[in-house]
Amino acid sequence: MDIYRNCNCEDLRITNVGREVILSGWVQRRRDHGGLVFVDLRDNSGIVQIVFSSEVDIHAHLLAHKIRTEFVIKIKGMVSARPEGTKNLNLSTGDIEVYAEELVLLNESKVLPFLIEEEVDVSEDIRLKYRYLDIRRPNMKKNLFIRHKTTQITRNFLDKLNFMEIETPMLIKSTPEGARDFLVPSRLNPGKFYALPQSPQLFKQILMASGIERYFQIAKCFRDEDLRADRQPEFTQVDIEMSFINMDDILTIIENLLKEVFKITLERTIKTPFLRMSYQEAVDNYGTDKPDIRFDLKLYEITEIVKDSEFQVFKRVIKDNGIIKGIKVPQKADYSRKEIEDLTSFVSIYGAKGLSFFKVVGNELESPITKFFDKELLQNIYRITKANDGDILFFVADQPKVVNLSLSNLRLHIAKELNLIDNSLYKFLWVVDFPFLEYNEDEKRWECMHHPFTSPTEESMHLLEANPQKVKAKAYDLVLNGVEIGGGSIRIHKRELQERVFNILNISSVEAKKKFGFLLEAFDYGTPPHGGIALGLDRLLATMLNAISIRDFIAFPKTQSGTCLLTNAPFDVNKNQLKELYIKTDVITPLNKEKLIVKS
Ligand code: AMO
Ligand code: AMP
Repeated sequence: MDIYRNCNCEDLRITNVGREVILSGWVQRRRDHGGLVFVDLRDNSGIVQIVFSSEVDIHAHLLAHKIRTEFVIKIKGMVSARPEGTKNLNLSTGDIEVYAEELVLLNESKVLPFLIEEEVDVSEDIRLKYRYLDIRRPNMKKNLFIRHKTTQITRNFLDKLNFMEIETPMLIKSTPEGARDFLVPSRLNPGKFYALPQSPQLFKQILMASGIERYFQIAKCFRDEDLRADRQPEFTQVDIEMSFINMDDILTIIENLLKEVFKITLERTIKTPFLRMSYQEAVDNYGTDKPDIRFDLKLYEITEIVKDSEFQVFKRVIKDNGIIKGIKVPQKADYSRKEIEDLTSFVSIYGAKGLSFFKVVGNELESPITKFFDKELLQNIYRITKANDGDILFFVADQPKVVNLSLSNLRLHIAKELNLIDNSLYKFLWVVDFPFLEYNEDEKRWECMHHPFTSPTEESMHLLEANPQKVKAKAYDLVLNGVEIGGGSIRIHKRELQERVFNILNISSVEAKKKFGFLLEAFDYGTPPHGGIALGLDRLLATMLNAISIRDFIAFPKTQSGTCLLTNAPFDVNKNQLKELYIKTDVITPLNKEKLIVKS
């Protein structure tokens, strides 16, 4: 019989008994029983048990005493059925073992900083420093495999729908997408800089002007932002743009794409169409434009009800145009004083100056502050919150931003604490009807809620100059389990409207021409109506698999402080490299203002 050469560990079954195989891989575990040495051999596919016996081959058996965890070996051997009582039900190859006739030691390994197992009890920093060991772990392999599958499914799906995959440049001009740019100095143009793209936004629109009609790209994006568990300085978008379409067309394509991804990768059927909710409804009921709707705990507003109370805190806030909103936690009137204090400290992280509460006893509200409210007013609160005996109500009074931010976070915090979230659910939500603009209080100017290339709705467009806060955008965000996994819009495709929008944003026509002249000019040459969307691939995967951090779905991610612990990037550069770029070598660090001299 032929020797089975390119054999995977995982392929071997009882039907292969008697077959000669050659296997290569890593030593997961070795048990030395003197006369017999057992090795769990691991390759990319799985694990199989190898037996080294002096009766089969004395040299292989001798050498097998030397091998240790993570040594790389190659063996030739015979597949045998395991004797009754020695089968391993936890392994798919547990019915058989391979008796080794030859052993080649391909490489050795030092003692590992952590074991190659599903769960490891080691800090993420160590995992990132030894990322090649971390990726040997089955969990990480599975994560990268699902990422691979998702991109393959996406490519096939979009290809079938006549989308063309086109790469756009990495060295570009600054684009205004809200975040800070990473800059790259140009040696050939002294003093000038490229920016790394925050997204392919302008190029994909130019591709529509180029008559491409259906574009997609699995695109690397770069944003120099403060990093969090769901934010990396470089991340990946499934970026899509189409001509001659409306919002519904785009939403349907994304729903069908995700249906396919979930079916193939997770064997899960997701229901389409996804629920849609207006921005206003999301903020009113959940305090955020990315609500997690796997659980209820909606917010209630009581500003109107309590406007005539004697409670100074509420009175003052209402006088300053603030609002009062709250949350009802069912059957938690037994929260202790300490627990309420902890929740008060929690909301203070988000700027709330206090947390008022009422415990529901029978059909009465009890609280140290009830004395400031008359009976009828308390009954109104009881009624509007649909309170029941044993519930507790919490309220925050402040400017809307603080109220919504603190309560939306309190809602999540309480849901996690009380185990109200069913982690097996996938709740998709399209958030639509966004305001077009948002006022930046610090800079005293209007900003686009999405980006300046988003189209206002036809019905509200006429209000751009007279009543900008009333203008709505043709924009949509996709939220999965409370995570924003995508966003897009129908774009402006006419010069006049784009110039009006720049004007509202305080971008002068000279500046607009300087920054986006190429786009405005393209609009002059028959640019079709178009729109698109970008899905955050890393966030989609992390949410699909209920992971805390997107870093687990990126082969080589950066830490919270933007460093790569494997390679130590960013790193010092040679003085001459900077000289070539016409860059001075003195760097002032923001922390100690000390001058650092770049190493020569
Ligand atoms: P937006 O800025 O909303 O839209 O980005 C689209 C999606 O990308 C993901 N995302 C991120 N993921 C990880 N780390 C980050 N730092 C990060 N920033 C964003 C989010 C987000 O929903 N050009 C537009 C899209 C369009 O209009 O077509 C854009 O980039 O999941
Ligand atoms: P104080 O007047 O600061 O002693 O607060 C009285 C009660 O009102 C305390 O329970 C505070 O937590 C609560 N409180 C104070 N400020 C706010 C606020 N902005 N919103 C809601 N409750 C508040």
